[in-house]
Amino acid sequence: MSHASAGYQAPSVSVAASLPKRADDATVLIVPIVNGTDDDATAAVVASSFLDAKAVTEIEGALKALGAKGGTEQVTRVVAPLLPVGSVLAVGLGKDRETWTPEVIRRAAGVAARSLNGTEAVVTTLSGLDLEAAVEGLILGSYRFTDFRSDKTAPKDAGLRAITALTADTKPKTKDAASRAADIATAVATARDFVNTPPSHLFPDEFAKRAEALGKAFGLDVEVLDDKALAKNGYGGIIGVGKGSSRPPRLVRLAHRGAKRKGKKVALVGKGITFDTGGISIKPAANMHHMTSDMGGAAAVIATVVVAAKQKLPLDVIATVPMAENMPSSTAQRPGDVLTQYGGITVEVLNTDAEGRLILADAIVRACEDKPDYLIETSTLTGAQTVALGARTPGVMGSDEFRDRVAALSQEVGENAWPMPLPEELKDDLKSTVADLANVSGSRYAGMLVAGTYLREFVAEGVAWAHIDIAGPAYNTGGPWGYTGKGGTGVPTRTMFAVLEDIAAHG
Ligand code: BES
Ligand code: MN
Ligand code: ZN
Repeated sequence: MSHASAGYQAPSVSVAASLPKRADDATVLIVPIVNGTDDDATAAVVASSFLDAKAVTEIEGALKALGAKGGTEQVTRVVAPLLPVGSVLAVGLGKDRETWTPEVIRRAAGVAARSLNGTEAVVTTLSGLDLEAAVEGLILGSYRFTDFRSDKTAPKDAGLRAITALTADTKPKTKDAASRAADIATAVATARDFVNTPPSHLFPDEFAKRAEALGKAFGLDVEVLDDKALAKNGYGGIIGVGKGSSRPPRLVRLAHRGAKRKGKKVALVGKGITFDTGGISIKPAANMHHMTSDMGGAAAVIATVVVAAKQKLPLDVIATVPMAENMPSSTAQRPGDVLTQYGGITVEVLNTDAEGRLILADAIVRACEDKPDYLIETSTLTGAQTVALGARTPGVMGSDEFRDRVAALSQEVGENAWPMPLPEELKDDLKSTVADLANVSGSRYAGMLVAGTYLREFVAEGVAWAHIDIAGPAYNTGGPWGYTGKGGTGVPTRTMFAVLEDIAAHG
């Protein structure tokens, strides 16, 4: 087993204006294809200017012989003896050119990458349509997690190691775009690795150590508070949730200080429950193992601050990441216990399974001490998110304008978060008979919004904030689709990075 590996290593990406001339049977050429225009017409190769016209005719002839129609995300493998590659993998984009958004290209690239079966080098013309979407899709689609496989089941090949993206120009700007796309995909893969690492091996102290090592490797300022420091400084939420576990909680802070004069400051907060049993309010056994994903918010936030540093964004980005394991034991908090959140608000813990908001409230108050302009917090917070929006649509709540901006950017990058309200009257549902607040409401209504309403109480006045609930979207329990395999998805890393870039550009 290689689980002490140096972290995710992306395939190398290079750009070229034409197909390399040297014959290479190990390379696969990935080409987009489109439906023919009349009824019995077969698929046509798109972005064919990179290829010799005779070779294009050859590919289209082979596709016709196989009856390939070029429907969206259909893949067809053919041989093309005229080209210096082992085979050609054609991926369909459907009929309608108007629908070829970056996400369509990204998904097509992802589907192609998932069907490579051990190929280690590809050349693609998908990049002729959208370079960055093609590179992101190929890297994300080729992602796999093998840290815990022994020789008995480990793959025999190294997976995708080299991508050559064909583009009309190979100027430095184009190369920068390719490496930006690779950095973003690497961040997503890093978040996926954290989520996919099982709770046996990723517990608060280990998670903190890995975050610290990663942060230091990319020049971030790192601070780790252990359980003693947390207790001493009044982090009652993190201590309360963590005290049922023999593996004590942590609070990790990672800072990228890139702001020039007038540069903005953005706080990121992510839920880092390394495993959520529910605590004394224990969860049913069925599917409890999915709670290995309950640190998906933390994973995405850590990956995002790292890629912000890698891409040298002219912003201060400070991640505040609470980490705890929610376990039942004789030292665990009880339903009915009262704790004091960092900053002084008291909370009656009516349900120990509503633990995310308890650790997040402490972290949000701490993050606001830095006086950020913006705060993005993300968490696998409520099963109600999945009930309301399903497995692939994060819910965004927060201050109206910033919430809508985050949702719009999330749509652009294909993570598809959707804005949700925080109706005023829900606050009354969080009244406690003994403390300032209760951690749950007495009803089953609007569980996602009630959790957002709880968090709102801890955001400092004047900070534009967004809360992204990723309970379903952080972890794919269904089959693979597009560039998303089973397990950790890395959502909402690309949304947060897009927001950071947008703030860097427009304030
Ligand atoms: N981690 C869970 C939320 C969750 C559920 C994430 C399903 C991913 C998939 C969270 O800590 C939780 O248990 N929330 C409770 C809140 C309730 C007690 C108010 C829930 O959703 O049931
Ligand atoms: Mn819970
Ligand atoms: Zn949880």
